[in-house]
Amino acid sequence: MKDKIGIGLIGLGTVGSGVIDILRRNGELIKRRIGVPIEIKKILRRDPGKPLPEGVSGNLITTDIKDITENPAVDIVVEVMGGVEPARSHILSAINNGKHVVTANKALLALNGEEIYHAASSRNVDLYFEASVCGGIPVIKAIREGLAANRIETIYGIVNGTSNYIMTKMTNEEREFGDVLREAQALGYAEADPAFDIDGIDAAHKLAILVNIAFGTPVNFKDIYTEGISGILPVDISYAKVFNYRIKLLAIAKMKDDSIEVRVHPTLVPWNHLIATVDDAFNAVYITGDSAGPTLFYGRGAGDLPTGSAVVADIIDISRNILKGGCGKIPPASFKEENRIPLRILSIDDIISMYYFRFTVVDKPGVLSTISGILGEHNISIESVIQKGRKEGCNVPLVMMTHEACEHDVKNALEKIDRLPSVSEKTVMIRVEEGN
Ligand code: NAP
Ligand code: HSE
Repeated sequence: MKDKIGIGLIGLGTVGSGVIDILRRNGELIKRRIGVPIEIKKILRRDPGKPLPEGVSGNLITTDIKDITENPAVDIVVEVMGGVEPARSHILSAINNGKHVVTANKALLALNGEEIYHAASSRNVDLYFEASVCGGIPVIKAIREGLAANRIETIYGIVNGTSNYIMTKMTNEEREFGDVLREAQALGYAEADPAFDIDGIDAAHKLAILVNIAFGTPVNFKDIYTEGISGILPVDISYAKVFNYRIKLLAIAKMKDDSIEVRVHPTLVPWNHLIATVDDAFNAVYITGDSAGPTLFYGRGAGDLPTGSAVVADIIDISRNILKGGCGKIPPASFKEENRIPLRILSIDDIISMYYFRFTVVDKPGVLSTISGILGEHNISIESVIQKGRKEGCNVPLVMMTHEACEHDVKNALEKIDRLPSVSEKTVMIRVEEGN
């Protein structure tokens, strides 16, 4: 029987420091839960001269990955450095050396997950990645274990803390985009390159991981339609409020016969829907199973301690497996490798949605009827219209909400409308979801 579990930590930034802090504060409690202590054996850093968190001795620091991946005292390698390379090579080499792996690296799993899942299955080692999606919320465990009896039908939610923080502050405090982004970076929420957060890429990485394990299909990341929040203007946030909606960056996946809809984009959600009330860096995900029905997971989606909590929970799970001989019990991608069925991802042009349009038009008689005529020709029916601040002959916003329409029809209609002489700017289009 082993008398301790050895950890090799790759990365000592926001998440790595959270892991160290939790193990230091709750080490005794965790030992009571699993029976043996968890000990950090080595920590890989780029810059060994940087100040160390409280309780970390300088002789734990290394810049040589072999001190971790080839260290006989290391049972579990924890990768919290981020990026694709060298993280991918470090993880593969850890797996090849028979180490179990915990990672928070959603970008890596979204792009190279198949290779890593296969390597872990082949070597019969555990690969856990709870922290890669929704920070401290145990959503991966819920899909892989708690909802394992279900055919998952939909996944729908807020999975990026930084963009939600920005949208919240812009909506509730009317603050400026760049200013709020800087604050989110200082709080440790943003990715090394914050464009990943703002452009929806981080949310799409997370959705790729969720779809993979929920629907049992490999996902080609390039097939996920992704739109970020940088085009969302205060004027659209205000009009959304007038219609009783909030704008949130949503990750959406829906099972449709033998294909799936997978998309990330800003979305109008009714103001009284639970998702609309998820503010700051909090995340929330609805997962609907055919037997459990809708389930909701809510909590802190980013930051050192919430993410550290998910990493340490994975370490505890694997430690229990090591101590009781249950490693490799749960396939990394949730389904047995040979039983996964590739599903086609529907083109964004084929989705059906409701829409918010903000046209910028010259205020003169007949414009509204020309625009509604074109929408009608493309099977798009209008639910409500607002035109405020009449200024004969000047540019004014004309805002509409539609009933359900096909995206292909919407694109064709907007192309035609934007060519009208009375339309002076490209029309803003935001999808609308009523939620489940
Ligand atoms: P971070 O603060 O930038 O820390 C990265 C750490 O990795 C630093 O200690 C850095 O070393 C080290 N590192 C980077 N490249 C390295 C290299 N080539 N060789 C050796 N060490 C290297 O990042 P983070 O926010 O902790 O994020 C880490 C991972 O967790 C990422 O995959 C991220 O997507 C994921 N994640 C983050 C959060 C969050 O809220 N921050 C939440 C969930 C998941 P130095 O200390 O020498 O700079
Ligand atoms: N940058 C990510 C976010 C970190 O803001 O959600 C958590 O994955």
